Amino acid sequence: MASPEFVKKLGISGCGADLSCLVFPISQMPLAFFPGHFIPKNLTTPPRPQRLYTANVLTGRSGERQAITMDFSPSKNQEQVKRKARRFVEEHVLPKADKWDKTNKFPMDAWRELAKAGLTGIPIPRKYGGGGHDVVSYVLAVEEISKGSAALGVTLAVHTSLVSQPLLWFGNEQQKMHYLRPLAQGRQFGSFCLTEPVAGSDVASMESKATLKGDHYIIKGRKYFIMNAPLASTYLVFAMTDRSMAHRGISCFVVERDMPGVKIGKIFDKMGIRSSLASEVIFDDVRVPAESMLGRAGDGFKIAMEALDCGRISIAAQACGIAQASLDAAIQYSKTRVQFGRPIADQQALRWMIADMATDIEAARLLTHKAARITDIGKRHTKEAAMAKLFAASTAVEAARKALQIHGGYGYMTDLPLERYYRDAKITEIYEGTSEIQRLVISNDLL
Ligand code: CAA
Repeated sequence: MASPEFVKKLGISGCGADLSCLVFPISQMPLAFFPGHFIPKNLTTPPRPQRLYTANVLTGRSGERQAITMDFSPSKNQEQVKRKARRFVEEHVLPKADKWDKTNKFPMDAWRELAKAGLTGIPIPRKYGGGGHDVVSYVLAVEEISKGSAALGVTLAVHTSLVSQPLLWFGNEQQKMHYLRPLAQGRQFGSFCLTEPVAGSDVASMESKATLKGDHYIIKGRKYFIMNAPLASTYLVFAMTDRSMAHRGISCFVVERDMPGVKIGKIFDKMGIRSSLASEVIFDDVRVPAESMLGRAGDGFKIAMEALDCGRISIAAQACGIAQASLDAAIQYSKTRVQFGRPIADQQALRWMIADMATDIEAARLLTHKAARITDIGKRHTKEAAMAKLFAASTAVEAARKALQIHGGYGYMTDLPLERYYRDAKITEIYEGTSEIQRLVISNDLL
């Protein structure tokens, strides 16, 4: 066990850590753990830990002790989910992703395979048809899937984080049994209807309204850029129930596709993620029972924000997938492409690009996994999700740009997926809150 002096030297005293929780033998501590590379006298051989370190600390909640493992390797279960996603991608995505993109076609067959593999409700409890895994496993899978197809990645991310998870957290038992089960099993698609033509970043300025008439609400409004909408049968719809209360007057409803008055409007022709579907959805006096409300009247804004706190982590994972696919392609190409009598990988300019890409991807992934882990232990993760999305999105854009540059003319042609990565990466800086909104969220937390 560590002495109090030693803990002080490590700079972790006063952070709520219990000395008895320092469970690692000193010989297994990494050099990097010692501030300024200070090495204790009794340490004769350099430590070679398999894992960085594992320390149990207090959560900070009074009297409650919970293990927060600071461990950078996935658990056996997380690794299994990741491997399953990778196998799915190799078999069902990589051979066809370019074709899906070029034909603007959603890959329904691949979705069915995804459902068969149990990957359409990864963090949803088994009781409701899901995989019963943690959020870290889920983001590992979203990254793998997005490496093959960012379009399929976002379809899964919106379906899971923006629809299934809010249903799990805010739904009553009846709503969960009725809506969540088919969603988690991938038999139905979910869609999140928040954005409007005049209300993008400024959610509270929405015009859609829901008026109580007896025991029903009448929903009227128009939602824009709604991912998955043409595929979905379950919509989470946000509408004003009391305009005088501003954002506190927004409520959330579960609306079914076949309710009279639900119409799919324009299907958008997008720059990237072309095989995912986004459309306008019109709610033309849609009559929904009062019990279709998710949570209570006026909870809508917070439900949307909490859903987005999770959604942003999944978009960060999607961005990591695009960035990793770009880096993999860049490494492979630069080792085989010969110019001036040697592989272009021998050029320092390229080596630096590859080193920078790899370093940024690693950092983006760590931020993403940290935000996912905080979600798993049930703590608020608004800032961490925003940081992960902000950093991972710019990493994806930059990695795709560098990888395309390394490929030169070949990268610009549609024969290779580089231009697809480049187009796909851009949206990660826009949807589920632009990078400017992420900076606002982060600074709101800090100031
Ligand atoms: N969790 C819980 N509560 C939250 C919260 C969060 N993350 N963020 C804010 N709140 C609460 C605040 O505490 C505050 O509570 P009170 O009413 O008790 O005071 C309330 O919500 C209002 O907060 P703000 O004053 O900060 O709200 P705001 O109107 O200034 O907006 C914003 C804040 C961060 C700009 C927010 O509007 C936002 O995130 N905008 C971006 C919207 C967005 O991401 N849209 C994406 C559309 S969906 C999409 O893209 C899906 C897709 O297709 C892939």
